[in-house]
Amino acid sequence: MATAMKDALAPAEPVDLLAKFDPIIQTRETLLAAGVEDPFNLVMEEVLSPTQAICNGRDTILLGTYNYMGMTFDPDVIEAGKRAMEEFGAGTTGSRVLNGTFRDHRDVETALREFYGMDHAMVFSTGYQANLGIISTLAGKGDYIILDIDSHASIWDGCAMGNAEVVPFKHNDVEALEKRLKRVPEGAGKLVVLEGVYSMMGDVAPLKDMVRVCKENGATVLVDEAHSMGFIGEHGRGVAEEQGVLDDVDFIIGTFSKSVGTVGGFCVSNHPKFEVLRLVCRPYVFTAALPPAVMASSATSIRKLMHGGNKRAHLWENSRTLHGGLKALGFKLGTDTPQSAIIAVIMPDLEKGAMMWEALLKEGLYVNLARPPATPAGMTLLRCSLCAEHTADQVQTILGMFERAGRAIGII
Ligand SMILES: Cc1ncc(COP(=O)(O)O)c(C=O)c1O
Repeated sequence: MATAMKDALAPAEPVDLLAKFDPIIQTRETLLAAGVEDPFNLVMEEVLSPTQAICNGRDTILLGTYNYMGMTFDPDVIEAGKRAMEEFGAGTTGSRVLNGTFRDHRDVETALREFYGMDHAMVFSTGYQANLGIISTLAGKGDYIILDIDSHASIWDGCAMGNAEVVPFKHNDVEALEKRLKRVPEGAGKLVVLEGVYSMMGDVAPLKDMVRVCKENGATVLVDEAHSMGFIGEHGRGVAEEQGVLDDVDFIIGTFSKSVGTVGGFCVSNHPKFEVLRLVCRPYVFTAALPPAVMASSATSIRKLMHGGNKRAHLWENSRTLHGGLKALGFKLGTDTPQSAIIAVIMPDLEKGAMMWEALLKEGLYVNLARPPATPAGMTLLRCSLCAEHTADQVQTILGMFERAGRAIGII
């Protein structure tokens, strides 16, 4: 009896729950064993401006941030944040629906309504949470979500959280979208989720045709404009504005972590019942509201972006110069023409990609090394994202760096 008790209490060997990640650990170890600097462990020791930093001890041009409009060091944006921190303290210590709505949370929602010319705006702690919350709350069990196969992880996670039927369609394929829409059972709720700019390849969605097809088939449309806000469209409202369909989009999702230059996510809409989402959207209710300094900086940045026409023009010029220059050097790019502030340089494989990434870093240039599962079709990419604060000289310097590194690694 005593022995049986002892056996029952003997510790059993636990199943290693991290064992499923062994292949990733192995790939990483192989890469580092080849002597390549760790592409996912970069430290910015000093940030000198939106386009320059000291990274791993080196003076580096930044070509891998989402600081498209260079707002992070805008003096008014910084001043607004400082003032709010002094007046309201460092944090909110509470949810938006309890003690976490301060003056500046309201103000940033007003700024968003003004920016998009829409009736409602709701701010989340990140863009990830905005997608997670809005998508899972709109489409639940029995509803259908039809989405582009190359959608951002936050969109997929929002679909999974809501338990809707999820139907992906081929990237940017209007006909495929229409076919999926026509197969949805009569009477079921239909939410189509699209992005303005796809962040891996930097390509733009054919929103004009897609939104038309959605409306013809009675679908609600949500567009994530994370990578186009502030930059694309006459007023920087994004691809939906550029293609003339903003009024037909039911929900726009965005983030402050890119053109706005801070952190936070949002949804804007003209839906008359929109405000109920504040009570039922779990990633809005069950998390702390952003600090007041972030809200005040964001509101100032958004209002400045409304009048950012010159900056937008310069960013387009940078995008055209870099795209044309890389193409002329013989690099394989994600798009034939410059479509956004993102230019993806396609690498032959992960090993060459990591070598090229390191060679560029040694030249003094930081870009993003992107690889599956974040990238489509198993590709390894060097993702370059331009900033309105990159000077024409910096863009030429960047092209020189790509040329030297590309020849040294044997990519061009
Ligand atoms: C298309 C898209 N949506 C949402 C997000 C999430 O934004 P955030 O960084 O604010 O969480 C990203 C982030 O890269 C994105 O690319």
